[in-house]
Amino acid sequence: MIGADGLALATRGLRKSYGPRRALDGLDLSVPAGVVYGFLGPNGAGKTTTLRVLTGLVHPDGGTVEILGKPFHRGDRRRLFEVGALVESPTFYPYLSARANLRELAASGARVPSRRIEELLDVVGLCERANDRVQEYSMGMKQRLGIAAALLSDPKLLLLDEPANGLDPAGIVAMRDTLRALASQGKTVVVSSHLLGEIQVMADTVGIIASGKLVREGPLKELLATQGVVKVRVQPDRVDAAIATLAPEFPAGRLTETDRDEGWLSVRIEPNRAEVISQKLAGAGIYVSGLESGTDLEMLFLELTGGQAATGEGSFVGLADSDAGGATAGKGTVA
Ligand SMILES: Nc1ncnc2c1ncn2[C@@H]1O[C@H](COP(=O)(O)OP(=O)(O)OP(=O)(O)O)[C@@H](O)[C@H]1O
Ligand SMILES: [Mg+2]
Repeated sequence: MIGADGLALATRGLRKSYGPRRALDGLDLSVPAGVVYGFLGPNGAGKTTTLRVLTGLVHPDGGTVEILGKPFHRGDRRRLFEVGALVESPTFYPYLSARANLRELAASGARVPSRRIEELLDVVGLCERANDRVQEYSMGMKQRLGIAAALLSDPKLLLLDEPANGLDPAGIVAMRDTLRALASQGKTVVVSSHLLGEIQVMADTVGIIASGKLVREGPLKELLATQGVVKVRVQPDRVDAAIATLAPEFPAGRLTETDRDEGWLSVRIEPNRAEVISQKLAGAGIYVSGLESGTDLEMLFLELTGGQAATGEGSFVGLADSDAGGATAGKGTVA
């Protein structure tokens, strides 16, 4: 089921152009089995194009794809029974209910016990509205139904393009729990996003792409370990003195003034060396009134993707309240 190399999904030299525009430019992804893989990249980087290739929706110009240990070609649509996907807005019969739509889907693909449909409606928190026509659904409700549809055949590999789109905070937390639970059962989940905060709180492994190429890939923890940031607060009238004190060891680029009025500076330094900053400042008679140490994936993301604007919050792992607004996810799944 899984490649000899332990990969659930691999692309090698994947290329795809739309007219003169190169969407994928020799993309190599290596997705280990049993992880939540965060597929990150700024707008237009090629995430959706990749997922369209992986689901046979578009034909690549070159390169190879291996899914669950076997080569995948566009004609192999049957192989996709092993793969659940949500790419672009899912299409449903608008005049049918959520339950009826899932039944239709189940009838057209691999066999699914009817109990599974009820289970999934519960997982995505649509039980109460399951008999309503989908045309009466909100955007987030349609997205939830799309996730249920992707899970229908109990796939070993799940490909989700921006699954959090349109979900409310509780829905996002619940989706994250659902995806983490799937990975803990040994399934592989690829989730694309341009939102760092989202990926940081749920992915084990991250692949960052820019302009159709992979720029960094690896366990999230390893990427973050190289990317420590300490934020330090001094009296606003001591900001210049603090900069002068730190500048010899932390030149511009590592040292930034984040909020002069409030006296915040940020320094790039390994998280376990945070105390060096307060020692140096104290040595110069500058006392620190606040210090936060964390890891800034956003900075790494911006560097790697050529500083293209990224959106999102929670760039301070461990400091951001990653569960904000999500306390209401009653069922512990997409609720
Ligand atoms: N059908 C298409 N026709 C022409 N160009 C396209 C088409 N689809 C995508 N592209 C181009 O391919 C590139 C990659 O687009 P893609 O949709 O894969 O990016 P993305 O990473 O999913 O971005 P986003 O975060 O905005 O969803 C972009 O330059 C885009 O303009
Ligand atoms: Mg996209």
